[in-house]
Amino acid sequence: MKKLIGIAAAGAMLVALAGCANGAGEASGPKPLDELVVGFSQVGSESGWRTANTKDIQAAFEEAGIELKFSDAQQKQENQIKAIRSYIQQQVDVIAFSPVVETGWDAVLNEAKAAGIPVVLTDRAVDSKDDSLYESFLGSDFVVEGEKAGAWALAEFADATEPVEIIQLEGTTGAAPAIDRAEGFAEVIAENPNLQVVASQTGDFTRAGGKQVTEALLKSNPGVDLIYAHNDDMGLGAIEAIEAAGLVPGVDIKILTIDAVKDGMQALADGKINYIVECSPLLGKQLVEIVEQINAGETPEKRIITEEGEFNQEQAIEALPDRQY
Ligand code: AHR
Repeated sequence: MKKLIGIAAAGAMLVALAGCANGAGEASGPKPLDELVVGFSQVGSESGWRTANTKDIQAAFEEAGIELKFSDAQQKQENQIKAIRSYIQQQVDVIAFSPVVETGWDAVLNEAKAAGIPVVLTDRAVDSKDDSLYESFLGSDFVVEGEKAGAWALAEFADATEPVEIIQLEGTTGAAPAIDRAEGFAEVIAENPNLQVVASQTGDFTRAGGKQVTEALLKSNPGVDLIYAHNDDMGLGAIEAIEAAGLVPGVDIKILTIDAVKDGMQALADGKINYIVECSPLLGKQLVEIVEQINAGETPEKRIITEEGEFNQEQAIEALPDRQY
């Protein structure tokens, strides 16, 4: 009997050790950085912002001498889930990912947890009741970005005596930045009932999407005064559609966007976009720091909010020569 109990106890210890063995900073202590492996699942390459974000993350890991396994989910949640499962199978030390949509992550994140692999969210949040499923969330406050956009619209149309018609170009349906930027904007513009969102449709954060949706919505809303695009790329697509309709972007129809990537800033400097709220894609260094903290057995901050600004035309002209992305 004693023998049986001994075998069972040894078995239980082995199972417990196997659970701990994978994650960085677990029982075995910190690993040298050149032995660490991080699996990163990126949303896709839908925008200039995303390209800059990918480059920045890859460069930061290369500089730190940490191996980064990278996969591009092409804006599909099922691809991200597959990538995360493959990182679990490969027993990487940390998994980082930028969730394409907010919901539907609990099952795969529980699998990572059961395997003892810490998860870091970058850029976008997950909608889960269980915040033990990830160590840290690094990225912007998208509601605040929407509020900043709303505050600009309020000020810009403060003297309007007639209704101000707004078309909203939404980001990917179900994505945190699409939900939060719409919410923050709506809350602020509610202060002036003259400001009305007359149409709101997704352009999936792409230039082609922004162009296509604007083309269609201009036909049904010929009196539109402002286009609020959830990112620069959709705003740039809207510019093409407005010009194709024989109108002057920035003058006949004002454009307000979020991101501040180089192409957007150039359009702002050229007067085709009227205002940009910044969303910084430069998350690489901070992500490396979080991975190093986890590896050292430390607890990273649960929520790290990116610092970002806002730009009008003069500020864009001044910032453009030094803009990194
Ligand atoms: O999640 C950040 C958003 O995703 C950026 O604003 C947008 O350009 C990107 O596609």
